[in-house]
Amino acid sequence: MIVSMSGADKFNNQQILVVGATGGLGCAIARHLQIEGADLIVSGRDEGKLAALSKEIGGSSLSVDLSGAAGRAQLAEAVGELDGVVYAAGVAPVAPVRYLKDADIEACLNLNTAVPLLLIRELLKNKKLKAGASIVWISSVASARGTAGYAAYAASKAGLEASARCLALELAPKGMRVNCIAPGMIETDMADATAERISDEALAAHLKAYPLGAGQPADVAAATSFLLSQESRWVTGITLPVDGGFSI
Ligand SMILES: NC(=O)c1ccc[n+]([C@@H]2O[C@H](COP(=O)([O-])OP(=O)(O)OC[C@H]3O[C@@H](n4cnc5c(N)ncnc54)[C@H](OP(=O)(O)O)[C@@H]3O)[C@@H](O)[C@H]2O)c1
Repeated sequence: MIVSMSGADKFNNQQILVVGATGGLGCAIARHLQIEGADLIVSGRDEGKLAALSKEIGGSSLSVDLSGAAGRAQLAEAVGELDGVVYAAGVAPVAPVRYLKDADIEACLNLNTAVPLLLIRELLKNKKLKAGASIVWISSVASARGTAGYAAYAASKAGLEASARCLALELAPKGMRVNCIAPGMIETDMADATAERISDEALAAHLKAYPLGAGQPADVAAATSFLLSQESRWVTGITLPVDGGFSI
């Protein structure tokens, strides 16, 4: 029988790492999990934002740049044994390809695709994932739909989802699960920055593609909570769209 918990008992005594917690989605996810009783370790680069979040939700925090091996090793070293890991860090260099710099494309494929995998590798090597741990990576609807200007970003998220499917098979014998969430447009700084780079007409047309309108960070936080919890104990290797019907 699956016991469905809600409220402050859902993640009682569970250690959950939220990476990208200084961002719009990561911050909302951390706040949501704290209300549901998780012991959180939050990570991001911006020390001021991280300090403010830690003060609000408690738990521990580590400011670290994950683009290099040293930062990932530092984070894997700092955490205790984890019940869950949420990877909500990312960059979105959205522009016609002729305007993308080498560094934009490399950083996107590194931070959005390689780093989540390398971080899990470090955590496994350091024995920091408990049997039964749940891993949630934040992807995007862009992984499955062609959009002009999204060539690097879409590739990075499609790669992330492919990687999650393989990792789910590798880790299933340990009872660990790996899933992605593919949000549509959610009102955060990243979405605002992307919207600024396209015309008003293109933005209006894009918003029309959401039968339920644009989403809120809380929508992604609730889906993350489900995939971390025992309510999804028989769910692994999937990408869950959280997109107001965009992908229908
Ligand atoms: N917002 C949307 O509409 C939307 C839709 C679909 C998918 N997504 C995906 O959801 C995830 C979060 O998006 P968001 O809107 O919350 O973005 P955001 O507000 O821009 O946050 C991005 C996060 O990534 C962190 N980060 C960036 N570079 C880093 C590095 N080198 N090392 C460590 N951390 C780094 C940032 O840390 P600092 O700020 O501290 O530097 C921040 O915590 C991303 O993967 C994005 O692709 C977002």
